[in-house]
Amino acid sequence: MIGAPQRLAGPLLAIGFMPERASSVATGVDHVFGLLFWVSTFFLALILGLTALFVVRYRARPSRTAPEPTPDHDGRLELLWTVIPLALVFVIFAASTKVYLSMTSAEPGAAPLRVDVTARKWSWWFDHPGGRGAKELHLVAGRPVELVLASVDVIHSLYVPEFRLKQDAVPGRFTRMVFTPTAAGTFQIVCAEYCGTNHSAMSAPVIVHPDQASFDAWAAEGGGAVAGGDSLLQVGKRVYDEKGCSGCHSVDGSPGVGPSFKGIWGRTHALQGGGRVKVDEGYVRESIVNPGAKVVAGFENLMPPIPLEEREIQGVVTYLRSLREDHDRGKGHEEKEDEE
Ligand code: CUA
Repeated sequence: MIGAPQRLAGPLLAIGFMPERASSVATGVDHVFGLLFWVSTFFLALILGLTALFVVRYRARPSRTAPEPTPDHDGRLELLWTVIPLALVFVIFAASTKVYLSMTSAEPGAAPLRVDVTARKWSWWFDHPGGRGAKELHLVAGRPVELVLASVDVIHSLYVPEFRLKQDAVPGRFTRMVFTPTAAGTFQIVCAEYCGTNHSAMSAPVIVHPDQASFDAWAAEGGGAVAGGDSLLQVGKRVYDEKGCSGCHSVDGSPGVGPSFKGIWGRTHALQGGGRVKVDEGYVRESIVNPGAKVVAGFENLMPPIPLEEREIQGVVTYLRSLREDHDRGKGHEEKEDEE
């Protein structure tokens, strides 16, 4: 996905005002932008040129009278100006879809660096693997990234011009960004959705480390401590213990009133009354806020809604993910792990 558009983008674009390209999707986005720009420029020039030509050439003159009857239809012309725009729309659709798909799915086989992003009026917070929270986003050049966005108040939008990527953070749901940073350096996140008085000041740096060792050195420097309180994993464990989850959901696989949390993350379950659901961020949130919405087959709808804060929901998600990782490790599925 990354390689294909690369060779076209340079010569095709050559517009000159675009910022540096620093992510796996940037070239593809510029390619689509360049296509739209030049198609629009071509037709703008054609239409303005012909308009000017006709104004001069067919201006009213005493010697000239309109032909009778005035021509009012030409089947071939109609066909031409229907087929050409239609073909262009298909080309634009194909080019955009290809780029869009590369934005929404990780490259196969890659273990993405997962970062939980929290937006609020008017700041960003980033929970990195290993419990390291920070006001800056830290990434590694060449390593795929999965950002899971949440908002505690209104809609914000995470935008990094050099990445050519933008994603809304929406209260009451999780959204996702998947990409690979391709250039080491420091870039700026800006909020791209008007969110109140200090919207324009809602920015944060993204530091793209040249390699994993540099990232690890940064992560170790804070000793896993979080400036703003507990890590998401600690929050999730506390919620599990203190909000009564443990009464019905075991973490060791033993049966209970509700499904055990052991190894549940990422699995697909059959639902009571038909249908299936994958245990992901969205399903965990729904099960906390509205437990009766999707009940796993074989269980009863006995759970009351649990009022949790946004960070507590993020914590539960992180805790469930960590249980899946423990579970896989127990079965000998050694994978590259970040969470410890
Ligand atoms: Cu947050 Cu605009």
